[in-house]
Amino acid sequence: MPVITNIDDLHRIYRRRVPKMFYDYCETGSWTEQTFRENTSDFSQIRLRQRVAVDMTNRSTRSTMIGQEVAMPVALAPVGLTGMQHADGEIKAARAAEKFGVPFTLTTMSICSIEDVAEHTEKPFWFQLYVMRDEDFLRRIIQRAKDAGVSALVVTLDLQMLGQRHKDIKNGLSAPPKPTLANMINLSTKWRWGLGMLGTKRRAFGNIVGHVEGVSDPSNLMAWTAEQFDPRLDWSKIEAIRDMWGGKLILKGIMEPEDAVMAAKIGADAIVVSNHGGRQLDGAVSSIRALEPVLDAVGDKIEVWLDSGIRSGQDVLKAVAMGARGTMIGRAYIYALGAMGEAGVTKALEVIHTELDKSMAFCGHRDITQVTRDILRVPRGFSGDWD
Ligand SMILES: Cc1cc2nc3c(=O)[nH]c(=O)nc-3n(C[C@H](O)[C@H](O)[C@H](O)COP(=O)(O)O)c2cc1C
Repeated sequence: MPVITNIDDLHRIYRRRVPKMFYDYCETGSWTEQTFRENTSDFSQIRLRQRVAVDMTNRSTRSTMIGQEVAMPVALAPVGLTGMQHADGEIKAARAAEKFGVPFTLTTMSICSIEDVAEHTEKPFWFQLYVMRDEDFLRRIIQRAKDAGVSALVVTLDLQMLGQRHKDIKNGLSAPPKPTLANMINLSTKWRWGLGMLGTKRRAFGNIVGHVEGVSDPSNLMAWTAEQFDPRLDWSKIEAIRDMWGGKLILKGIMEPEDAVMAAKIGADAIVVSNHGGRQLDGAVSSIRALEPVLDAVGDKIEVWLDSGIRSGQDVLKAVAMGARGTMIGRAYIYALGAMGEAGVTKALEVIHTELDKSMAFCGHRDITQVTRDILRVPRGFSGDWD
């Protein structure tokens, strides 16, 4: 195993090993990618306050997210086509997460199905729902999640239609890749990935294929979203889903206080301040800038989490210090999965944990649940000197 000391190391290996189409799918934002870039660069504008002569023994990063104990306040975010980044990717990532003690979220648009992940893991995971037009499908997939022992439903609110990502259109993104000349040439240099794919039967959208009718091209994510995702999703539908599910509910993709207030009103257990990793509305502010106004509106009523842009344990620390009760990571674990499968995801979690733990200690704390905004230096007007 090469020496891995940070998420960038995993990113470099990932880029070499995974077909261009899937690398591009992950490492892109919508339109100009401004929001995608600022999600990470805004974290680096926040600085940490170093404290000294504080006892650093007996440290703990343990916390809870919706009442569930976690080894650190980090969950694996739902990521479409994870099983195309590495053979059986969702199962591999879920296993790494459960061994580490953090939650794994399976997307609706996964390659391995809900049932398959449940069969190959021991602890309950979370399931992320995209709301489809087909109400029968919706009811059935919620029931399938219940039957598989899923412990929380994450409803993603910021993808009623797909943000335009230029590279995906140009690459003709599909699962599995179509045998075009360009794909064949690129795949021939990715032998490790290819061998993995030859060794698995899981190469299409496992939750969908065989469970829904009337889709013109079942391998095409863009066609899928255009045809199946429900653009009429509104708060009354979210309430109906809440009632159908009847368990822990997390609403993902909230950026504005008004929407956070609605989420709290309908009784969600947590919200994720998220701009989908800069993949939907380009031009939105970074999630870390959006966090404080949301906390001011609902921080005492509901758990507020954050994702988008986290690439290190220091980013987790900054989000938590600002008031996020938990975080989610997307690309940071996808790089790791594409680079090295399950061992890679474990490595990414270890890297993030070490960075979080040591940075917390340097800031004079031993318990992540006691960390407050006092450890931060935040530029004036960071969260909104906007009109
Ligand atoms: C390749 C990719 C696919 C994604 N697919 C989904 C998805 O299927 N469902 C969803 O709710 N979010 C999806 N997301 C968004 C993530 O859940 C998460 O919000 C985002 O990755 C956080 O930003 P980060 O990658 O900078 O950590 C996806 C993100 C990426 C990078």
